[in-house]
Amino acid sequence: MSKDKAQGIARGLTNYGDAAFSKYLRRSFASSMGYSREMLDRPIVGIAHAASGFNNCHRHFPEMIEAVKRGVLAAGALPLEFPTISLGEVFLSPTSLKFRNLMSMDVEEMVRAQPMDSVVLLGGCDKTVPAQLMGAMSANLPAVQLVAGPMSTGRHKEHRLGACTDCRRFWQQFRSGQIDQEEIDTVERKLASTAGTCAVMGTASTMASLTEAMGMMPAHSAAIPAVSADRLRMAEETGRLAVELIGTERRPRAILTQKALENAVTVLLALGGSTNAVLHLAAIAGRVGLPLDLRRLNEISERTPVLVDLKPTGEHYMEDLHYAGGIPAVMRELRDILHLDAPTVTGETIGARIEAADPWVDRNVISPASEPVRETGGLVALYGNLAPKGAILKRSAANPDLFETEARAVVFSSLEDLAARIDDPDLDVTADDILLLRNAGPTSPSAMPEAGYLPIPKKLARQGVSDMIRISDARMSGTAYGTIVLHVSPDAASGGTIGLVRNGDRIRMSVATRSLELLVSDAELETRRAEAPPVKPEPKRGYDWLYDRHILQAEDGCDFDFLVERD
Ligand code: FES
Ligand code: MG
Repeated sequence: MSKDKAQGIARGLTNYGDAAFSKYLRRSFASSMGYSREMLDRPIVGIAHAASGFNNCHRHFPEMIEAVKRGVLAAGALPLEFPTISLGEVFLSPTSLKFRNLMSMDVEEMVRAQPMDSVVLLGGCDKTVPAQLMGAMSANLPAVQLVAGPMSTGRHKEHRLGACTDCRRFWQQFRSGQIDQEEIDTVERKLASTAGTCAVMGTASTMASLTEAMGMMPAHSAAIPAVSADRLRMAEETGRLAVELIGTERRPRAILTQKALENAVTVLLALGGSTNAVLHLAAIAGRVGLPLDLRRLNEISERTPVLVDLKPTGEHYMEDLHYAGGIPAVMRELRDILHLDAPTVTGETIGARIEAADPWVDRNVISPASEPVRETGGLVALYGNLAPKGAILKRSAANPDLFETEARAVVFSSLEDLAARIDDPDLDVTADDILLLRNAGPTSPSAMPEAGYLPIPKKLARQGVSDMIRISDARMSGTAYGTIVLHVSPDAASGGTIGLVRNGDRIRMSVATRSLELLVSDAELETRRAEAPPVKPEPKRGYDWLYDRHILQAEDGCDFDFLVERD
């Protein structure tokens, strides 16, 4: 810590013109919290946390905050925690993504407005870490991320259970009649049984891993289980680190360089991580003026093997990844294709981190690059007249037999239409069709929910059909799997081609050529466009109004246009 550069409680003090009076007044109010003068003269580490009664994943935050404080105090600074908006993934309507930018604004503004010399960002559930990083990139005060850590798995009969890939597996069994109501009720109680984030390589685990890979957290801090004593020790270490950062130039923008971003993309592809991470990385990078080009993602995907065997695409859980060697072990396998000179918040380069990590690794969970789980990366971007600005396919979670397909489209015009008709026994659909959902993108009133995992129509599920090509402008949960094309851009509500598809049109998807084509002539599409321009309600006030006017498309990470860094 460079104490002479710390501003402590006086940071930002201009309120009353008279600086000495302002300091005296602020200190007197701070004294009412019982701090001694010695404490108030220390540098201040803010702890921006997202604890909430509506966020099960963060229920252990009080204990983690105590541990961070311990580290801060021991290193000679004063810790002051403050709450921000929290986004509990399953408790928000219409979808948590709608509020990620709002949380990022809360973090940015409170970090800037309140007197602190550095900040620990404590989050975990899907959208919270991206929101905190977006805010921290914009505020650019020295910052370090701390995450909740993954939930531990539970048991049901002979099955190991982890939210929420197994949630879907058992629900599919229930829908197809393989298990009964009583059993699904039992499973429901067992799926999520500890504090922490979803136990598989879903969005929360992916974002935690990428935050470590981009250098914004200490080594190993992504995967330590939420309930482990090591998680508390990591919290304490993070508090100490936040003090060390004070007065240095090790700020978020010095950490998130183009190289760090590419390292994060490489790790994403090697993990077979969540499709949502593509949105979040684009949004975080957009805050420092870095582009996340999906064509570049495709290039990196060709040279990056999938190395970990975690659900939803494999067998294991996030806690297993930790005990197998964690993110440092994954990055060691990737060292030939990583930027080893990328900096980290702990001061060493990524290369030095890899060298320092224990070389032991559990090969059941983390494969060597020479014998990967898959030869190429987990995600690819598809382009074509159906997705001029791109779409994402998690090929590691998809059925390769469907990669080169031309088939008939069965169209659902909205979430309501999908809910009303998908299980209709009279629905004209076969296992060879492509299911298409639209008006579920970022500019739609539903604000891009995780509806892209369209259910298999019940009558087909009962015949044993477990996968079909599904295409939408929506997202899907990082814990889901299937041959599912997401984030089709531009979305239907903003006038994208996906809004013009009709039942029975032919669609051609080719993973080999990265293409997604609607086999309808341009002239016919123009006629359809003129006949039915998109209509959507215009919000009159409040956050809906702000969102509607400023939301960007998927390729820009669905940030607000006024929050993106401009030259
Ligand atoms: Fe919080 Fe899954 S619900 S990470
Ligand atoms: Mg999720």
